Amino acid sequence: MTHDEGRGPLLELQDLSVDYGPVRVLDRLSLRLRAGQVVGVVGESGSGKTTLAKAVLRTVDAANGRVLVDGQDITRLRGGALRRWRRSGAVQYVFQDPLRSLDPGIRIGESIAEGLRIARIPADQARERVDAAVEAVGLDAELLTRLPAGLSGGQRQRAAIARALVVQPRLLVLDEPVSALDAASRDRVVQALIALRRSRDEQLGMLVISHDIGSLAALSDRLVVLHHGRIVEDGLTSQIVARPQHPYTRRLIDSVPVIDIRQPNRPAPLARS
Ligand SMILES: Nc1ncnc2c1ncn2[C@@H]1O[C@H](COP(=O)(O)OP(=O)(O)OP(=O)(O)O)[C@@H](O)[C@H]1O
Ligand SMILES: [Mg+2]
Repeated sequence: MTHDEGRGPLLELQDLSVDYGPVRVLDRLSLRLRAGQVVGVVGESGSGKTTLAKAVLRTVDAANGRVLVDGQDITRLRGGALRRWRRSGAVQYVFQDPLRSLDPGIRIGESIAEGLRIARIPADQARERVDAAVEAVGLDAELLTRLPAGLSGGQRQRAAIARALVVQPRLLVLDEPVSALDAASRDRVVQALIALRRSRDEQLGMLVISHDIGSLAALSDRLVVLHHGRIVEDGLTSQIVARPQHPYTRRLIDSVPVIDIRQPNRPAPLARS
């Protein structure tokens, strides 16, 4: 029994293929993500991870198959319907480089609140939502008056995640959220995401993309292993890490220090910074 039994998956790919010109980049992918779940997508550079994210955001067209978000087929949306769906903010994307979502000339607090201003959310409600998002990522409120240049890489990435959260998405797509960070910052961001998963358990889904299976091991319930645009393995993270079936998955695991990957979900409280 699961809490959302009776409801369909939050995200479903059905036999999805994507082409860039004559080249098939994603080849008949199928996967499901339920509300409250974190699904990790792992694969080496060029395996198609970002293209998968773009298909879920509907910024690339599907050659075949479907992408369902909350039961709605987004692959067929065009024109005004597509714009309305985008504006709904149901799916939010977090870049590898937080400076792509944070304007260098705008204070952190204003950047986080921007989506609410655009949606004309009343100021008092907006403040509450910003506070909740800032709290959810463990960011010190004192940082909100600074410009992005005054934050560490990890703080910036947590601000970018807060910015995505304030619009209350159904699904967060994080594309290499920790790859650009040093080890300490990486750990803080992963801890923030683990805490977020716990606090939003029933509503939010996360699709977390990484070339590094180690950073996904502690975070994701399920893993999807992408190799040359195909899913070669899909299952519970714990099972894949303990008993990888595909030689490519084994190679990915062997490239990570054992101590990183066997690390359980640590319920550490989130200190602020
Ligand atoms: N706009 C594009 N036009 C043509 N080919 C593209 C385009 N974007 C990506 N590709 C190709 O599609 C394949 C998958 O690219 P994608 O960016 O999805 O990989 P990735 O797994 O995200 O890689 P990385 O880990 O380096 O970010 C690659 O072979 C890439 O060269
Ligand atoms: Mg990529």
